[in-house]
Amino acid sequence: MSHKRVAILLSGGGSNMLALLDSMTGDHPARPCLVLSNDPAAGGLTRAAARGVATAAVDSRPFRGDRLAFEAALIKPLQQAAPDIICLAGFMRVLTADFVSRWQGQMLNIHPSLLPKYRGLHTHARALAGGDVFHGCTVHEVTGVLDDGPILGQARLTVTPDDTTKSLAARVLKQEHQLYPQVLRRFAAGDRTPVCLG
Ligand code: GRF
Repeated sequence: MSHKRVAILLSGGGSNMLALLDSMTGDHPARPCLVLSNDPAAGGLTRAAARGVATAAVDSRPFRGDRLAFEAALIKPLQQAAPDIICLAGFMRVLTADFVSRWQGQMLNIHPSLLPKYRGLHTHARALAGGDVFHGCTVHEVTGVLDDGPILGQARLTVTPDDTTKSLAARVLKQEHQLYPQVLRRFAAGDRTPVCLG
């Protein structure tokens, strides 16, 4: 069986990337083909290389907000790797609809909230401020609209009275590491049935 090729995009430590890498073994229908970052110093690049996965970095800073120029540079290593699936995993750049359209239906993202609640940043602080009983994370297909797109999985937890932004972020991150690999495995097998955890 030929495996689906998965490229993972990250900006930081890559704990979600590691969870995805570690899941793609045995009879899993996919294998990693590239870990790509917008930050050459991202810790995730070192961790991926240590596991023998090809890495690349396109520093977004020289482009100083020229999104199209940055994305034109980002496309090069991606085209070389020829992924069937792209997983955004702690990738902190907003991608234009034009970039996304090149991989429409093949690009996933994990977001630390129960979408459609709390698109954007500071999701844990917003859930606390909102007095939410439930919080969690979502894997969705990436479309041209930020943190939108068909939901492919959610993991939910109950917010406790002594939760802080920090403790909540840590608990949600643990759930991300369970959710994303399960969604990727199904998605790579052509199954879009949502994964529901917790
Ligand atoms: C975390 O805040 C996580 O909630 C979000 O991206 C950030 C970094 O994750 N998905 P990672 O450790 O780089 O995967």
